[in-house]
Amino acid sequence: MNYNVTAIPGDGIGPEIVREARKVLDQVGRVYGHSFHYTEVLMGGCSIDAHGVPLTDEALETARNSDAVLLGAVGGNVGNSKWYDVAPNLRPEAGLLAMRKGLGLFANIRPAYLYAELASACPLKDEIIGDGFDMVIMRELTGGIYFGDRWTKEVDGVMQATDILTYNENEIRRIAIKGFEIAMKRRKKVISVDKANVLDSSRLWRKVVEEVAKDYPEVELTHMLVDNCAMQLVMNPGQFDVILTENMFGDILSDEASMITGSIGMLSSASLNESKFGLYEPSHGSAPDIAGLDLANPIATILSAAMMLRYSFDLDKEADAVEQAVRQVLKDGYRTGDIMSDGCEKVGTTRMGDLVAERIR
Ligand code: NAD
Ligand code: IPM
Ligand code: MN
Repeated sequence: MNYNVTAIPGDGIGPEIVREARKVLDQVGRVYGHSFHYTEVLMGGCSIDAHGVPLTDEALETARNSDAVLLGAVGGNVGNSKWYDVAPNLRPEAGLLAMRKGLGLFANIRPAYLYAELASACPLKDEIIGDGFDMVIMRELTGGIYFGDRWTKEVDGVMQATDILTYNENEIRRIAIKGFEIAMKRRKKVISVDKANVLDSSRLWRKVVEEVAKDYPEVELTHMLVDNCAMQLVMNPGQFDVILTENMFGDILSDEASMITGSIGMLSSASLNESKFGLYEPSHGSAPDIAGLDLANPIATILSAAMMLRYSFDLDKEADAVEQAVRQVLKDGYRTGDIMSDGCEKVGTTRMGDLVAERIR
């Protein structure tokens, strides 16, 4: 089969990690008889430099007309880059938000599991790690505080900044359904995370999630406050199967969950709409501190490409092959710097991509 993929390298380490994910996809194509055609478009800081905006209409249309999107990351050094001090809609991250919204990608799936081989890179004690953990964060991605009005103004001589957080019941219902659906294919446990002791949006969240739960009697639903969840993730990560949460809580908790898998360089993600269309990107950012140095871990992006094969193209066997190849590379003792441990061989971004590609069978 032929698949048309929009490739968005973006900024910082983006081009390096997307190159490795493409290398792995191309090897999948050779071994399994598929061909992946890429159309590269600009998004983020590089698009601001070239076109004056972080996402052009043409780039968005190219993405819309393709079968799936593969993204590296966008953005510069926050607070200290040429792209920082500009209007909100002209920042690199605004390109990504416009793409998520424009393509209706409301369901962000971020799986966090500990490979046995990476136990020594996990900062938790052995007794907490226990038999390991395997969870999925189902993050709402096109609503909440990211998409509310925001403004900064002076009131009575004092600077004041406002960000509005709104959810409607339909936005909550559709992501809750996704969360319960994925739980049905897993261990049938949903922990819905909110701040219902303070926020009205969280009270509505809780109510709608409970209504949806009635259609999934086999799934055990628990509610957890977000501050407690942040603590529980490092105290007892094994208790989580599906974490269902709103946009900003999911953003923060997924970075925390990534670190207990060994590194943020391991955490993949899929952002899906109602159909099979998706944008696939690592959960981490553009890591300007290590850009261009062949230091970035490409595994999160490679595993995101595996999610593309599974969710958008229904190529389960091929997705398994990529995940198996990653596991084998770790078993064979190769590590990028972020997951390095004693007795392993340290490799750079490019070599890690080669090692995974070589193991695709
Ligand atoms: P970051 O995730 O880019 O980096 C945080 C730390 O993790 C850094 O020390 C970095 O070197 C390290 N790191 C990240 N990815 C790594 C990898 N693959 N291998 C090894 N180490 C890795 O977060 P940040 O520094 O807070 O943000 C930098 C920029 O990225 C900002 O402009 C931010 O807005 C943007 N960002 C973009 C996305 C995205 O495009 N999806 C996601 C998050 C942040
Ligand atoms: C992520 C990122 C983005 C987010 C930023 C870059 C807008 O942190 O994908 O996790 O907050 O969603
Ligand atoms: Mn994030």
